Amino acid sequence: MDTFILGIETSCDETSAAVVQNGNHILSNIISSQIDIHNIYGGVVPEIASRMHTEIILQVINEALSKSKKTLEDIDSIAVTQGPGLIGSLMVGISTAKSLAYSLNKPLVGVNHLEAHISAVHLENDIDFPFIALIVSGGHTNIYYVKDYLEFELLSNTRDDAAGEAFDKAAKVLNLGYPGGIAIDNLAKEGNPKKIKFPRPLNDDSLEFSFSGIKTSLINYLNNNMINNEQDLKDICASYQEAIVETLINKTVNAVKKYKVKNIVISGGVACNSRLRVLAKDKFEDKNIKVFIPSPVLCTDNAAMIAALGYYLFRNNITSDLNMSPYSTAKINPRSYNS
Ligand code: KG4
Ligand code: ZN
Repeated sequence: MDTFILGIETSCDETSAAVVQNGNHILSNIISSQIDIHNIYGGVVPEIASRMHTEIILQVINEALSKSKKTLEDIDSIAVTQGPGLIGSLMVGISTAKSLAYSLNKPLVGVNHLEAHISAVHLENDIDFPFIALIVSGGHTNIYYVKDYLEFELLSNTRDDAAGEAFDKAAKVLNLGYPGGIAIDNLAKEGNPKKIKFPRPLNDDSLEFSFSGIKTSLINYLNNNMINNEQDLKDICASYQEAIVETLINKTVNAVKKYKVKNIVISGGVACNSRLRVLAKDKFEDKNIKVFIPSPVLCTDNAAMIAALGYYLFRNNITSDLNMSPYSTAKINPRSYNS
């Protein structure tokens, strides 16, 4: 029998709802972005984010249902992002999901946002376990060893800034708007990545990341050098991007060597980066290691990935109480799938 999961995602600045069949077939995936508003302030303003989620969430859910041609009665379970994320924003999705679960008498499933970024791969590919997953987003840079659909072992994270944060902060300094990753990516396409040698932090065989030094060295560079023309800006973007991307790939190589896997998943907003997508394939494919990077719309925040992981949790009877609460950081993730 088919299983239909309604996924809801409101952890940051995207309000999203999706209907996914059997954990791998997207019937709808509606994403309403707040980027235009936050761009005015140069970053996400949490109070505005929660208000905007509240204003639009019911409309987004209705759209997801009507596009999927399913009704609420057809839905088997409601999966919602529980954390990590902005508490006020998470609360909007969680209260909506709880109300639906209660009124329809259907199970509620709280989903970890970062693990859901990994589960996005199942929406487009059949992938063999185990694999290494590199999750690169605005708030996180994590490497996981993934043994099964619900077995995620966190191997490393960042000591300071996340990769996406390094892109966004650089874009702010360079006056390129928010979020900055895509702007830097586009300018870098016509720049020389070897022009400026930005550091490759923690360039050893560890799995840990650190990106605050790269950002500082960009600021130092800008204090000592003029941007005289568009080409200078493009060269800075290309060199800066290369330092981040090379670091991400080097750490993934370390993890692959250590855990001897044949498959890699790269996901999260920064996985949209065109240079990262090319370099990852170049680096691993001739070594007989398959690299899976979801389509860009499934790499950035979306509810289809929440429904995908929600499906495996629901199938294993790992559901949540109606009194469950959001968590802001990955460190206090209150659930363990394996216990
Ligand atoms: O996963 P995501 O949509 O939201 C979080 O959970 O944080 O990731 C957003 C991050 C932002 O930092 C944004 O600048 C970055 O992903 N990003 C990119 C690109 N597209 C989005 N970074 C580099 N290159 C891109 N093309
Ligand atoms: Zn995310």
